Amino acid sequence: MEFSIKAQSPEKSRTHCVVIAVNEAQQLSPSAQVLNDASAAYLVKLLRQGDLSGKVGKTLLVHNVPGVAAPRVLLVGTGKELTVNERDYRSLVRAALRALDGSGIADALLCLAELDVTGRDLEWRVEQLVTIARDVRYRITRVSDKQDPAYGVKTITLSLPAKANLAKIKTVVANAEAVANGTDLTRDLGNMPPNLCTPSYLAKQARALGKEWKLEVDVLEEADMKKLGMGSLLAVSSGSRQAPKLIVMHYTGAPKTKKPIVLVGKGITFDTGGISLKPAPEMDEMKFDMCGAASVLGTMRAVAEMKLAINLTIVVPTCENMPDGNATRPGDIVRSLSGQTIEILNTDAEGRLILCDALTYSERFKPDTIIDVATLTGACVIALGNEAAGLFANDDALSSELKAAGDYTFDRAWPMPLWEEYHEGLKSNFADVGNVAGRAGGSITAACFLSRFTKNMRWAHLDIAGVAWKSGKEKGATGRPVSLFCRYLITRAG
Ligand code: BES
Ligand code: MN
Ligand code: ZN
Repeated sequence: MEFSIKAQSPEKSRTHCVVIAVNEAQQLSPSAQVLNDASAAYLVKLLRQGDLSGKVGKTLLVHNVPGVAAPRVLLVGTGKELTVNERDYRSLVRAALRALDGSGIADALLCLAELDVTGRDLEWRVEQLVTIARDVRYRITRVSDKQDPAYGVKTITLSLPAKANLAKIKTVVANAEAVANGTDLTRDLGNMPPNLCTPSYLAKQARALGKEWKLEVDVLEEADMKKLGMGSLLAVSSGSRQAPKLIVMHYTGAPKTKKPIVLVGKGITFDTGGISLKPAPEMDEMKFDMCGAASVLGTMRAVAEMKLAINLTIVVPTCENMPDGNATRPGDIVRSLSGQTIEILNTDAEGRLILCDALTYSERFKPDTIIDVATLTGACVIALGNEAAGLFANDDALSSELKAAGDYTFDRAWPMPLWEEYHEGLKSNFADVGNVAGRAGGSITAACFLSRFTKNMRWAHLDIAGVAWKSGKEKGATGRPVSLFCRYLITRAG
């Protein structure tokens, strides 16, 4: 899908379709007004007939409007007012793009950046247009000879107000496309079946990405991890026939002396629970347990394409959590890379076990900031549902920055506590720490466990268990939180 920008008269556009907006009171957006004038008030006549309610996201496709060069005009409703809030803007844009998507229209002129959105500027609106268009365009790659039909909009021209700063908007579009490319990669990896998307496959993808974008790639093998003493990560992988990997990638967009931002992503390519076996219903969804890993790979791709002036390192501990004769037992005690011993009381709390070793390992990169991202707990889904990721941090400023990044892109996260009191349940009679506390506050105690391994660093943790994928009829990876990360990193790049 390609985007271009233009400050042009919509009536002269020769695209397959011009997209304009109207409200319930039959008021027209500026471009709609232009088309109406060009057509001797044809559009207003249709609206008077009651062909479109104007409610948010209702659409009407009209053919051969007199005086308009394009063969189709798509009207989309904005609700009571032409000025909308963020939520309504996003839903009317999505509705318009969905209407185009199913119609055989290959190129369109979108005149929706001109709508006023309370509290948001043109740059935000353009970024949303590109992001939503790419999201609607995304297709799951089936494991089948039959793919979904290739129809869908190929070219979108964004019509801009005459006074727009075109150079600035060009950068916004290019960045939004890079973020969408990263998001698509994250979704593709997440959607793959767990027999194909193995730790080795992820390592291979990382190497390919490194080659394409000239990034340094390092993959630690099982033997390397043994030598280093990553007893916690290895305990998770011990029940699997798949070899574990620790993938490290470096992007250098700033002077080498500048400390990197490090992103660590949970890469459990399938989580059966291990000996603490999960129940059968929906267990297939545990193929998405590597979505944290996929999101840091996607973010790396986006950052490289945007050429941000930062140094970024990603670290991906990846393995499978399987039950077998060699699997870790509840009650086993292992020594983590940090030296802390861990009593593994529940082998299904495996995410924290691979992350703690990856976090300790990451200290060697002297991170300016380290953020891990993981489909870590079902408890986070109970706490926050499928809207917000859980946001934990040992630094209030970092927490605010990440929350603001999510608010901006609508890839939202919500702050959760890490108080000392919550550490109580992790105490063990037999080792330095247990890997689980009780059921209460499960996402918080999981984060508290991780915090024991990041004491020397400015650290945040995103629990994306509720937001990384959708269940049911729309089952599939969302690509979150790539856009949150990218917004944060764009801001950090200045
Ligand atoms: N990958 C799961 C978390 C998960 C479960 C995400 C369901 C999304 C939906 C994680 O490894 C896990 O199993 N966590 C346990 C922790 C418990 C044993 C303390 C959980 O949430 O039940
Ligand atoms: Mn688990
Ligand atoms: Zn898991």
